[in-house]
Formats: sequence, structure tokens, C-alpha cells
Amino acid sequence: MRSIDVIFRWQDDLPDVSHTAVVVIDTLRATTTIATILANGAQAVLPVGGVEKAFALKEQDPRLVLGGERNNRPLPGFDAGNSPYDYPRAVVEGRRVVLTTTNGTQAVERTAHAPWVALGSLVNARAVAQAQQSAHDLGLIVCAGTEGQVSLEDVLAAGAIVLHWPQEACTDRALIARALFDKWRDHLYEGLKTAQHARAIIAQGLDADVEYAARLDLLPHAVVRNKEGWFVNQ
Ligand code: MLT
Repeated sequence: MRSIDVIFRWQDDLPDVSHTAVVVIDTLRATTTIATILANGAQAVLPVGGVEKAFALKEQDPRLVLGGERNNRPLPGFDAGNSPYDYPRAVVEGRRVVLTTTNGTQAVERTAHAPWVALGSLVNARAVAQAQQSAHDLGLIVCAGTEGQVSLEDVLAAGAIVLHWPQEACTDRALIARALFDKWRDHLYEGLKTAQHARAIIAQGLDADVEYAARLDLLPHAVVRNKEGWFVNQ
């Protein structure tokens, strides 16, 4: 029987995911940015939890692009930050990118044991939902949240993915996400702007990133983990 559930923070108890297609969401901004990096022609993206690990990978392969943030700001010694606008085609085409962020890449590491993992956001919600349902009858969406708190923007994007699952497959958590998406579906940018993390990054001058993240189904590809653990377009 088909089922879709949503975990609102990656720190919460995960059910057994050994037969589950997992989608991780960090709408502002990691999973939106990764979808964009791949749409702009990068070969693959590896989300890593720690800055040290990112530097170690770059030492092994100097051609890697290192990206990420702490406190929403680019990291010293890195090639780029965590804005989708940091990764135009001229920077990423044909290259591999390693990204470390405060919440999103930690959530991805938490789900590493799942057999199928994709990264979701509003910009590729439909493509991710279709890929998830093709992969397994059981689906789980794991929201990154922000520093241990539930994030409105992640639950909103979860709802945009749940929308493509049959209603009878939805757990109550999935229906909550869907209800939030239904509330804002015709004005997603306004909805995103109400979120605490959106307000924080807008105060840092990153309004354009919030506006970009609200562009529903802008990108046609799902972002899926390959056998080597890197994420690629499907
Ligand atoms: C995160 O992983 O915490 C976010 O992507 C933060 C951000 O850059 O807005």
C-alpha cells in the first residue's frame, strides 16, 4: 500500500527507511541551491556536514568547487556561498561541487542509510514527487528545519511534493504539509517571506534568494543520490 509521511525536523525519530524513498528538503537554501547547481550543468554535488571534510575533499581534488555557509554567509577559503546565484553556468558547468551548510547538509547525512534519497524544494517539487513515487510505494520527506526548529518553508515545500501523492496515501503529517501548501499555493513568495529563516536572510540582503526559492516547478529534474553518494539530475 502506498504511503507518504513527513518528518518536520531531521533531529526527530526517523521510521525504518530500509524500503522507503526519502526526500530531504531545505528550501532556504541548500536543496534549492543544489537543484540550481545541477540545472546549470554541474556533474554532481556532494553535501557534507563539516567544513573540515569539505577542505579535505578539495585537497584530494583541487578541481572541486567548494561551496557553503555558516550564519548564512560564505565561508572563508571557499569558492562560493549558499545562494543559487553563486553558481552560474560559467562557474559550475562540467564540474563537481561540494557543499556544506548549517542544517540542510546535516539532514542529508542523517538519511545516508536510506536506499534511495533525493533532494526536494519548491523549484523542483513535481519532478521530485514523480521520481519518489517511481522509486518506491513508501515515501518519506525529511525537513531540515533551522537550528533544531521546524521551518515553515520546508513544510511548505513538503506540501508541494505531497500534492502529487494520492490523498489516501497521506499520513496526518503529510496532510498538514499539504494544507500549508494549499494556503499559500497562489502566492508562494508571500508565504515564504513569513518564515523566520526567510526574514533572517532578507535582513542580510538575500531577498532575491527567497524570491527564487518560491518559483514552483522552475526546474524539470529530480536531484537523486547516485551509487557513489553524489547527487545528480535524474
Ligand atoms: C542551511 O543549511 O542551514 C541553510 O541552507 C542556510 C542558508 O544558507 O540559508
